[in-house]
Amino acid sequence: MKSLSWLALLPILVALGGCANTQRSRDLANPNVPPDVTAAQVCSNCHGIDGNSVSPNFPRLAGQMPDYLVEQLENFRSHHRSDPAGYEYMWGISRYLTDEQIKGLAEYFSRQTPKPNPPIDSAQLVAGKTIFENGIPDKETAPCMACHGPKAQGIATFPRLANQHMDYVIKQLHVFQETEGRPGTPMKQITHFLTDEEMHQVARYLQSFPIE
Ligand code: HEC
Ligand code: HEC
Repeated sequence: MKSLSWLALLPILVALGGCANTQRSRDLANPNVPPDVTAAQVCSNCHGIDGNSVSPNFPRLAGQMPDYLVEQLENFRSHHRSDPAGYEYMWGISRYLTDEQIKGLAEYFSRQTPKPNPPIDSAQLVAGKTIFENGIPDKETAPCMACHGPKAQGIATFPRLANQHMDYVIKQLHVFQETEGRPGTPMKQITHFLTDEEMHQVARYLQSFPIE
C-alpha cells in the first residue's frame, strides 16, 4: 500500500522537479529558462540583482537603454566587442544566448531603478559638468549630452551614463581612444584628444550625476 502511494506521487514530483529546474537554472544554453531567472541566478553575481553593481569592475545595468543592452550583448556574442574585460567575462556568457533571451535580459535590466551614488563636493564636479554640457571645442570633442541626453539618461542605442561607476567609464574611454575593441562608434573621435585628467573629470561627474 505504501509503495503504491509513492508511485501515484511520482508524476507530480517529476513535474515539480522540472519546474524547479527552470525556475532556478543557471543554464545559459536553455532558452526555456525565463530571463528574470537567468538575471537572478547568473548576471546578479557581477552586475547585482537590481543591476546596481557594487564593484566598479562590473558596469551598472539598472535603467540602461534596452536597445543599447541588446546591441552590446549581440556584440559580445558576435565578438564584435573585444575589449579585454568584455572578452574575458562576457564572450562565454553571451555565447549561447538566443535573440529572445537577449531581449528579455535587456528588458529586465532596463526596468530596474538606478541607485544614486553618495554625493561629493560640487566644486569637484565643475570641470566634468562643463565637458558634459559643452564638450571641448578645441579638441573636436562634442558635448556628451548631445548624444547621451541632457540627464545622461541615454537615448536608444546611446547608453545611459548617469551613475555609472567612474572607473568603468574611464576604462571604456581608454578603450575607445587607444584600441579597436569597440569599433564603429563616434566615441573614437570624441576621445581622440582627451587627456586622462579630462576623462577623470567627466567620469567623476557622471558617477555622481543627480537623480531626479
Ligand atoms: C563573472 C562576472 C559577470 C557575469 C556573471 C556577467 N557579466 Fe556582464 N559584464 C561583466 C564585465 C566585467 C563587463 C565589462 C566588460 C568590459 O569592460 O568591456 C560586463 C559587461 C556587460 C554589458 C555591457 C554593459 C555596458 O555598459 O556596455 C552587458 C549588457 C552585460 N555585461 C550583461 C550581462 C548579462 C545580461 C549577464 C547575465 C546573462 C551578465 N552580464 C553576466 C561581467 C559579468
Ligand atoms: C555623437 C554622439 C556621441 C557623443 C557626442 C558622445 N557619445 Fe559616448 N557613446 C556614443 C555611442 C553611440 C556609444 C555606444 C558605443 C558602442 O556601442 O560601442 C557611446 C558610448 C559611450 C561610453 C560607453 C558606455 C558603456 O556603458 O560602456 C562612454 C563611457 C561614453 N560614451 C562617454 C561619453 C562622454 C564622456 C562623452 C563626452 C565627452 C560622449 N560619450 C559623447 C555616442 C556619443
